[in-house]
Amino acid sequence: MKIFFLVLLGLHSATAVTHSLKYIYTASSQVPNFPEYVTVGMVDDVQMFHYDSYTKLFIPKQDWMSRAIEDDPQYWERQTQIFRGNQQVFKANIEIAKQRFNQTEGEHILQLMYGCEWDDETGEVNGFYQYGYDGEDFISFDLKTETWIAPKQQAFFTKMKWDHNRAFTVQTKNYLTQTCVDWLKKYVNYGRSSLMRTELPSVSLLQRNSSSPVSCFTTGFYPDRAEIFWRKDGEELHENVELGEILPNHDGSFQMSVDLNLSSVTPEDWRRYECVFQLSGVKDDIITKLDKTVIQTNWSKTGDGRDGGFPLGVVIGVVVVVLLLLVVGIIGYFLWKKKNNGFQSANNLDSTSIGSGNSSGSANSDTPFITD
Ligand SMILES: *[C@@H]1O[C@H](CO)[C@@H](O)[C@H](O)[C@H]1NC(C)=O
Ligand SMILES: *[C@@H]1O[C@H](CO)[C@@H](O)[C@H](O)[C@H]1NC(C)=O
Ligand SMILES: *[C@@H]1O[C@H](CO)[C@@H](O)[C@H](O)[C@H]1NC(C)=O
Ligand SMILES: *[C@@H]1O[C@H](CO)[C@@H](O)[C@H](O)[C@H]1NC(C)=O
Repeated sequence: MKIFFLVLLGLHSATAVTHSLKYIYTASSQVPNFPEYVTVGMVDDVQMFHYDSYTKLFIPKQDWMSRAIEDDPQYWERQTQIFRGNQQVFKANIEIAKQRFNQTEGEHILQLMYGCEWDDETGEVNGFYQYGYDGEDFISFDLKTETWIAPKQQAFFTKMKWDHNRAFTVQTKNYLTQTCVDWLKKYVNYGRSSLMRTELPSVSLLQRNSSSPVSCFTTGFYPDRAEIFWRKDGEELHENVELGEILPNHDGSFQMSVDLNLSSVTPEDWRRYECVFQLSGVKDDIITKLDKTVIQTNWSKTGDGRDGGFPLGVVIGVVVVVLLLLVVGIIGYFLWKKKNNGFQSANNLDSTSIGSGNSSGSANSDTPFITD
């Protein structure tokens, strides 16, 4: 199915101190064994809560969320009510989207991603509010020009309506640049000790068979602001290397690898190479020398030259990650191509009801208005 976006983790640079609050709404139509509506919220790319149409409950996913509930006794009930309301709006919206595309059946997915980023050194703030339909951009808000961008012809109608609804535009802008940022600061403060922790990874050198590249595989690090590269005689290499994505592990930590193609390197020269891992906020790099004796592989042990594999544990780990990505994708991440990096928000897409007000996005809510 080409229906999910992938939120690529680790998009920020390794030195940034940018925090983010992000919500992803997913409405689905005729997707078997999948809730009609799901929302997840993320702080610094860590899942904070989950809501879906099966439980109809706002379910905190981090221990520190209990502080939000203690500080504000209505918080939990309010969030639950807001997402129950949004569920109705989204159910209507996906029907509207289907109509716009003349679709009566089949599996369809409508998603909204919105939120804000805040740099805690410069104070710089950014916001985003983007809708995707069946894996492609549908409509998004341009914060600079305060206009709506509709790459799909089917969204023009919505764009026109929203562009003419000044109150809605101002409300969106205020939410993204103020309310959202206020809540982001609050959540970062609650979760500080957990969100600001650093965990170093374990590093392994892996090789599939004697002619494959050597992979420098790191897993278990936190946060997802890290860099990894190969060095020769102390110089960073850019050729014959292939850098992988930062991927999430099931325990909240991350993994990443970088491959080095050694096919034109003589065995005597191997010792001139090393793999370097740098974690944001940690001064010392983890340096691993390229050494045949530490490379994990199983082809040499059997000695039969057949195409071997990585050690089983690692292979399973990777499979789990891939599965996790799929599951997470299904539960609300977007399987999102790198060329895109946007999402849109959740107002009723239909003209007739846009901007009828009824904002539920008051300042004591971390969730914006969904106009009816
Ligand atoms: C949907 O159907 C209408 C009327 O039949 C037609 O005008 C429109 O172009 C169709 N839209 C798409 C996306 O196929
Ligand atoms: C490694 O490099 C050689 C030549 O430099 C190339 O022929 C080979 O395809 C490369 N292997 C991989 C896996 O990229
Ligand atoms: C090494 O593995 C690659 C793919 O993983 C395969 O294409 C290649 O034939 C293997 N080479 C040997 C010598 O087994
Ligand atoms: C190497 O290990 C992988 C995974 O455990 C296994 O599938 C493969 O058959 C092994 N290869 C050899 C040559 O034993």
